[in-house]
Amino acid sequence: MTIEKLEKEIDAGGYKFPRSNNLSVLTRPVHIKGTDVTLANSLAVHPMEGGDFSAEDNSPTDTVTRRYLRFARGGAGLIWFEATAVQEDARSFDRQAMITEKNADAYKRLIDEIKKENPDVKVIVQLTHSGRYSKKGRKPAPVIAHHSLPLNDRLPLPPDYPVVSDEYLDRLPETFARCAMLAYEAGFDGVDVKCCHCYLYDELLSAYNRPGKYGGPYENRARLVLDTVSAVRAALPSAAIVASRVGMSDMMPYPWGFGVPTDGSVACDLTEPLRLIGDMRARGCTLFSLTMGTPYYNPHVNRPYGQGVPTSPEPPLRGVERMINTAAQVKIAYPELTFVGAGYSYLGEASPYVAAGAVECGMIDVVGYGRMALCYPDFARDIAEGKFDRHRSCLTCGKCSQLLGGFRPVGCPVRDSEMYLPIYQDLMRERAEAQK
Ligand SMILES: Cc1cc2nc3c(=O)[nH]c(=O)nc-3n(C[C@H](O)[C@H](O)[C@H](O)COP(=O)(O)O)c2cc1C
Repeated sequence: MTIEKLEKEIDAGGYKFPRSNNLSVLTRPVHIKGTDVTLANSLAVHPMEGGDFSAEDNSPTDTVTRRYLRFARGGAGLIWFEATAVQEDARSFDRQAMITEKNADAYKRLIDEIKKENPDVKVIVQLTHSGRYSKKGRKPAPVIAHHSLPLNDRLPLPPDYPVVSDEYLDRLPETFARCAMLAYEAGFDGVDVKCCHCYLYDELLSAYNRPGKYGGPYENRARLVLDTVSAVRAALPSAAIVASRVGMSDMMPYPWGFGVPTDGSVACDLTEPLRLIGDMRARGCTLFSLTMGTPYYNPHVNRPYGQGVPTSPEPPLRGVERMINTAAQVKIAYPELTFVGAGYSYLGEASPYVAAGAVECGMIDVVGYGRMALCYPDFARDIAEGKFDRHRSCLTCGKCSQLLGGFRPVGCPVRDSEMYLPIYQDLMRERAEAQK
């Protein structure tokens, strides 16, 4: 989207977006408050699952290395490494990243290469339990915190499907802490306790009707997240960053979503998310990446898009506006914490101006790009040099998501076509065969 088009749409739709021509704010170093770490600039690569780790031991393959070295050369100050499972049954499928005692050396080699390519870049690993989206190989093997009817319907799951036990959950903080230590020793600068997009830790936050110590009141629903942050913080040396990618709102009707009003409307209520961030801060979490929604229920909220199937049920700019302005409310509540914002890829060529506006007004500290990083890995360098190339910009066409959903290596079939178009065509052929 050009800046002129954005301005026209803002006029026509009454959108509220920050904008600034002072792109140099994006090149300023960002100190992560409460740590000794300073990011080289205020641009980040979001975690983007690549679906291309070794099926044998989940270590990085050549395509993983290619992806991250391109990110490293691209000049963003922060690379937030993709969702990395903490144990086998927590994987989203057999080729997801997973760090273990056996493969940690392979992760170390990858981080060494990333840091050789860009010695200033900081890399945070996103540790996760895929929860209801876990698979054994490629077959669904959901681990659910409670029966979320809208999400059950989509899998689909029968009403008597067993809910994960308290004893299983009790073991997870130590598991996260062990993986955090492996990751830190492998060279990651910090660890994210992933808490968004309706994976296990986020789903627990809306376990209003779950009995026992992990359900019901906020204190119980937040217990596992907070215990895990404490365990990870205690396991890591003080130089390591403890971070979290938090869903500000699932944007699902109560009682199925976290961060939503109790009247059943599909909206955002920050009361509990703000409390959660404060509680995580008290346990040593200093860096937060803010997101919303879930790709499995409301992808237009999670990653506003202009093309693709299904068609977005709202103007994509509404989604971008919601994401940016809700993140600003969180930042205003916690000025002393460092936040990464999302939802900028849809804005394309106009995105640096909105990003600069958001950073300049103190609405966010760091601007992250997800889909844009796949198609235009050196977006950060080009933004810094004032030469963002619209011919390399993300079309938000959804093909990267389709590749992931089809268990194929993830990249951009449009802008990185030599590598990913044949993979995408193969997936389309397979789907057409299946429909015959
Ligand atoms: C193919 C694909 C993989 C993703 N993988 C992850 C992931 O591993 N962890 C995560 O927190 N978000 C993941 N996301 C969400 C992105 O990090 C990001 O929040 C989203 O795409 C919106 O940012 P954007 O508009 O810049 O793309 C993924 C998104 C896509 C399209």
